[in-house]
Amino acid sequence: MRALFVPLLLIYASGSGRAAGASGTKGTRFVCTAVPAGTDLSCPVDTSSRVQGTSPQEEELRNTVIQLRETILQQKETIVSQQGTIKELNSKLARCEADARSRGSARRKDYSKNTMGDLPRDPTETVQQLGKTMQSLKDRLENLEQLRANTSGGMFPNELRDLLKRRLTDLESQLLTRVAELEEEKSQLYSETATHRQRTENTLSSLLERITELEKSNNAFKSPEDFKVSLPLRTNYLYGRIKKSLPEMYAFTVCMWLKSSASPGIGTPFSYGVPGQANEIVLIEWGNSPMELLVNDKVTQLPLSVSDGRWHHICITWTTRDGFWEAYQDGERLGTGENLAPWHPIKPGGVIILGQEQDIVGGRFDATQAFVGELSHFNMWDRVLRPVDISAMANCSAYMPGNVVPWVDANVEVFGGATKAALEICEDRLFDS
Ligand SMILES: *[C@@H]1O[C@H](CO)[C@@H](O)[C@H](O)[C@H]1NC(C)=O
Ligand SMILES: *[C@@H]1O[C@H](CO)[C@@H](O)[C@H](O)[C@H]1NC(C)=O
Repeated sequence: MRALFVPLLLIYASGSGRAAGASGTKGTRFVCTAVPAGTDLSCPVDTSSRVQGTSPQEEELRNTVIQLRETILQQKETIVSQQGTIKELNSKLARCEADARSRGSARRKDYSKNTMGDLPRDPTETVQQLGKTMQSLKDRLENLEQLRANTSGGMFPNELRDLLKRRLTDLESQLLTRVAELEEEKSQLYSETATHRQRTENTLSSLLERITELEKSNNAFKSPEDFKVSLPLRTNYLYGRIKKSLPEMYAFTVCMWLKSSASPGIGTPFSYGVPGQANEIVLIEWGNSPMELLVNDKVTQLPLSVSDGRWHHICITWTTRDGFWEAYQDGERLGTGENLAPWHPIKPGGVIILGQEQDIVGGRFDATQAFVGELSHFNMWDRVLRPVDISAMANCSAYMPGNVVPWVDANVEVFGGATKAALEICEDRLFDS
């Protein structure tokens, strides 16, 4: 509401009137009347007014006060409507924030600090300020009423009118300032909200970009199985994890390529722990012992030796029937045995860890048992593979993905500094025609 009351009191009698009064024209009163701008400003002398009970000055003052009251009422309406706008803005802002919160980004906290902290003053503060202005207006109005009552007490009507005029002008400009301030805050609120939303969107799109990049780099291998996992240090925190678990099994074959020159012992190429049995299946070469296979914490030694720093293909088969096992290295069966956890079914639902021995499922690793080297094509089947399949894989003439655990990029996670890289073995292998 911009149409504020503009005092248009034209006090045309003041100049000549006062001069005349000063010359001591006794019994003559000077009359002041509101006239539109541009009217001839000659100074009429109203002789009839001196006999009237209520002077025109008082009449005018009363009118002015009435006008002031109207102005104040209008201002009240303005404030009520501004309060409505502010409420609406507040609820919009709250919705906006809730939106941003539910979209959730890692930097959300920072944003709420940066943008919401910088927001203009609380709009209710502005309303309170307007309320104070209204109070001071009321006070001034009461003052004016008192002044009117005191007119007979000696104050010159002209001076009173000047004072009134000044005060009205003052009040008007104060109100205009308040309204302007309020409107500015309103537009600041709008633009802050827009900025906030813009920043949230920027964060989201940059996150999306990074995810897309990561996905691209993850798909950089020629095919999903053409990668290896590197575990370069003997630590208790470098490891790989197979995302898939195992079903209940009565037989298995596990094959992999290994490259290590660690001594003494290459450590633990893989371990499978289940709740209640951390050593459900473990392949380990520890200290000066030969390589060992553990099934349900029962152990057998394997005639395998791979720690010459070259790639070797190893496969181990096991069946619950008599606990019979076979050990292959580079396509050749180097040993067999029985009574390794006979009639035990492999328990399902555990965790396969590459490069570490588990003391509890998925954790409590021991650095002295860690595998140091490179590992690839870790595949598992729920049956005993034929020797011909195993030798074909070992001489790169065939590749068979495991039917319970296939070696695919998306299935293998690496932690603690373990890395994935392109695989250089079997690069020009010929697949089964
Ligand atoms: C009006 O007059 C009364 C008594 O004559 C006085 O107490 C009061 O202060 C005066 N008010 C103004 C605003 O001059
Ligand atoms: C690879 O192994 C398979 C299965 O034993 C055999 O048939 C094939 O001749 C071997 N190829 C080479 C190049 O040695």
